Amino acid sequence: MSERLIDQPNWIYLLREFETLYRYGSAGGSPAIRSHRKKVREELSRIIGGNPPLAEREPAGKPVTAHFSRALDTGERGSMQGMARALREQRDRLTWEYGYEKVPPALARKYAYCEILGPRGPILWDRLILGFVLFAPRTTYPQHSHSEIEESYISVSGAWSENNAAVYSPGSLILNRPGDEHRITTGDHEPCLLAYAWAGPPEKLGDPKMKFTAGRRQA
Ligand SMILES: [Fe+2]
Repeated sequence: MSERLIDQPNWIYLLREFETLYRYGSAGGSPAIRSHRKKVREELSRIIGGNPPLAEREPAGKPVTAHFSRALDTGERGSMQGMARALREQRDRLTWEYGYEKVPPALARKYAYCEILGPRGPILWDRLILGFVLFAPRTTYPQHSHSEIEESYISVSGAWSENNAAVYSPGSLILNRPGDEHRITTGDHEPCLLAYAWAGPPEKLGDPKMKFTAGRRQA
């Protein structure tokens, strides 16, 4: 018999950490963020109540995962300790990947993400993707946008900036609405680990066609 969510409590605990963040964190007065948070937490209630099937994926590392222990250690000492600890329990089951067909060689050493829930598993669900993205210190994640997909990032550890607009620390949430161009940079000395949620139509989540925005570079 194939396994379901209830058979793997550590995946449930990780989902609970997401649920806590999206339920009890603040929207900072932003209607767009409030509505996104609601969307994510309502989906999370359906997921946890729905006990979806699991499709465990082959664990895989990438060069940047050499920074993962440090990112978790730092996360466990700050406001996102619950998330960092729950993620540490699952660290050997994570499938780190690039997503893009063409990854610039410099970025291939400094970036990767892993999904914990979505159309590809390991927790199978077609209406939401949850995962983590890890950046080495001093990384620039090039400009890109997502068509029809709403994306939020919540910092677990490390300092980072988006579009040179501000410096975000653990616990901060950023919303990128569909089509919003964004570019991320990370601090000089520490890795940066972000939790993310993607909400959008199932056909887009199943085939998000990730690519960088061509020909537009910022200093
Ligand atoms: Fe993005």
